[in-house]
Amino acid sequence: MKSPDRYGVIGYPISHSRSPLIHRVFAEQTGEAIEYEPLKVRPDKLERAVRQFQRAGGKGLNVTAPHKSEVIKLCDHLSERAATAGAVNTLSFRDHEIHGDNTDGIGLLRDLAVNHDLTLENMRMLILGAGGATRGIIGPLLEMRPALLIIANRTLGKAKALTQHFSGFGPVSACRLDEVPDDTDYELVINATSAGLKGDTPSYPAAAVSPETICYDLSYGLSPTPFSIWAREQGAAESIMGWGMLVEQAAESFNIWRGVRPQTAPVLEHMLITV
Ligand code: ATR
Repeated sequence: MKSPDRYGVIGYPISHSRSPLIHRVFAEQTGEAIEYEPLKVRPDKLERAVRQFQRAGGKGLNVTAPHKSEVIKLCDHLSERAATAGAVNTLSFRDHEIHGDNTDGIGLLRDLAVNHDLTLENMRMLILGAGGATRGIIGPLLEMRPALLIIANRTLGKAKALTQHFSGFGPVSACRLDEVPDDTDYELVINATSAGLKGDTPSYPAAAVSPETICYDLSYGLSPTPFSIWAREQGAAESIMGWGMLVEQAAESFNIWRGVRPQTAPVLEHMLITV
């Protein structure tokens, strides 16, 4: 009998990753014969680890922090969305070549539009943070034709650089995190800072949240994240953690690798019960 195809996720650290669990459930659900393992890879060992996995016959890897930008250098081919995002979260090994793609943005869109039934067209959006996570989601969000998308960041220059990069894609502008224009009713506020991961709670812009605002934290945790607690305290209409995006981006990767899109709802339910 043919042994299962090999997949995995590389990151540093990696023990917290839920991807092995998610892909195991997808494999059971779809009857695909795959193995999926977590690989703890230090930044200076990235290339060696990827090439070793490829040589050993591995079929694909998910890529997580801190490798998403660096891994681009190893790709022979990049999808357009990965090139725009400047980040890769999915590698496929085919015909001795490495294909890089990015499913984070589409994962977020699916969570917002399908799981939470939101209409993104014409929405007034605010993103907090201007690092790698923001870069990965701006392009797909602008494709949904929001009314406006403001990037607020502690370091204004980084937010400005992103708006310059994406200005041809839609109505995007930049401001300082503590100078968010308060004359706008934001319908969606996304936290894409890494502050919570570092245990920091910056002064998020309270004036940006009204009872109509949906707050979405790209981070997620076993207990509510600092941003999701803050959003509730501000009286947001909804405060969502990024579990749905995690499961949806995984489903897109699974589809790239296996040509089958798993159902995400039962997995999300399973995750929220088991975490
Ligand atoms: P990257 O994703 O590029 O590796 P990062 O250092 O993890 O970057 O930071 C991601 C984002 O979180 C950045 O926008 C960062 O703000 P700066 O550009 O000003 O560094 C933001 N961030 C991290 N910690 C923060 C904090 N304590 N307060 C406010 N913003 C913070």
